[in-house]
Amino acid sequence: MLDIECCISDMPASAPDLMERAAQAVCRLEGVENVGAYVRVVDDETIHEINREQRGVDRPTDVLSFPSVRYRPGETARGSAALIRREYDPDSGLCFLGDIVISIDRARAQAQEFGHSLARELGYLTAHAMLHLCGYDHMTDSDKAKMRAMEDRAMRELGLTREDAAYDDQALFDAACKMLDSAYAPYSHFRVGACLQAEDGRVFTGCNIENASLGATICAERCAVSKAVSEGARRFTAIAIAGDEKPAWPCGICRQVLREFAAGDLRVIVGQRGGAFETATLEELLPRSFGPEDLTI
Ligand code: THU
Repeated sequence: MLDIECCISDMPASAPDLMERAAQAVCRLEGVENVGAYVRVVDDETIHEINREQRGVDRPTDVLSFPSVRYRPGETARGSAALIRREYDPDSGLCFLGDIVISIDRARAQAQEFGHSLARELGYLTAHAMLHLCGYDHMTDSDKAKMRAMEDRAMRELGLTREDAAYDDQALFDAACKMLDSAYAPYSHFRVGACLQAEDGRVFTGCNIENASLGATICAERCAVSKAVSEGARRFTAIAIAGDEKPAWPCGICRQVLREFAAGDLRVIVGQRGGAFETATLEELLPRSFGPEDLTI
C-alpha cells in the first residue's frame, strides 16, 4: 500500500513493515480498500525546505501530508468512494490518497522523548499522516479528539498501546503471569505464560498448549514467538516467562528458537506468579550457541 522512499542510512530494519501495517490499520478502520500513498523519509533540513516551499511555514516539522483527494467539508474517506476512485493509478491498481513526508531526525527525537523505539514512532507518524490523507484533521477540539481516537485504535491494532512505553521487566513479567490463565495444560498441570518484547516496542504473549500426543505440545515461549513472527516482528529484546507452581526457565528448544530472533543479547525474565523474578541473558542460558549467521547460504 505504501511506496516508501528513504535515503537515510540508519532507518531501522523493522520500520517499513511497521509503517505499512500502520497505514493498513488506518484504512481498515476507515473502511477503504485498494488505496496507496507515497512516503518519503527525509532529514530535518529537507522537511524544512518542503514546509517552506509548499506551505510557507519556515521551520522543520515531524510529518507533512499532502492529500490528493479534496473531501467534501466534514467528510472523510469512508463516504468518498467516488472521489477516491478519481485517483486510480492503472500501474499499481491503487487509488493514491496523497504524499507523506516524515523527518527521521524529528522522529528520532520524539522516540527518545517518549521512551519508545524509532520504528514505533515512524509507525505512529505514518498512521497520523494516513488519517490526514483520509480527510481527518485536528483544527477543532472535536476533530482532534476524533483523529486521536482513530490513531489510538490503529496503534492498538498493531499491538502498540500508549502504555507500551512503560513495558519494563515488571510489566513484561505481569503480562506473562496473566497468560497463565490461558495455558492449556491438562496433562502436566504445569502452566506457563510468556510475554515477548520486539525491538519495535510491540509485545506478544503466549501460553503453553499441550496435546494428547504429548509430543505436539507447544511451550509458552514458542507460542509467543509464533504469534510475533506471524505478525511481522522478528527481532526480540526481552522475554518474561512465568510459572504457576515454580519459576519456569526456558527449555532447550525454546532457548534455540529465541536465539534465532534475538536482537543482541536477549533479556530473559523468569519467575513464579505472585513472587519475585530473576533475570539472565540468553547468552548465559545458551553459551557458545549456533545461530543464523553460522549458515552462509
Ligand atoms: N513448558 C513451557 O511452556 N516452556 C518451557 O520452556 C518449559 C516447558 C511447558 C510445556 C509443557 O506444557 C509443560 O511446560 C511441561 O513440560
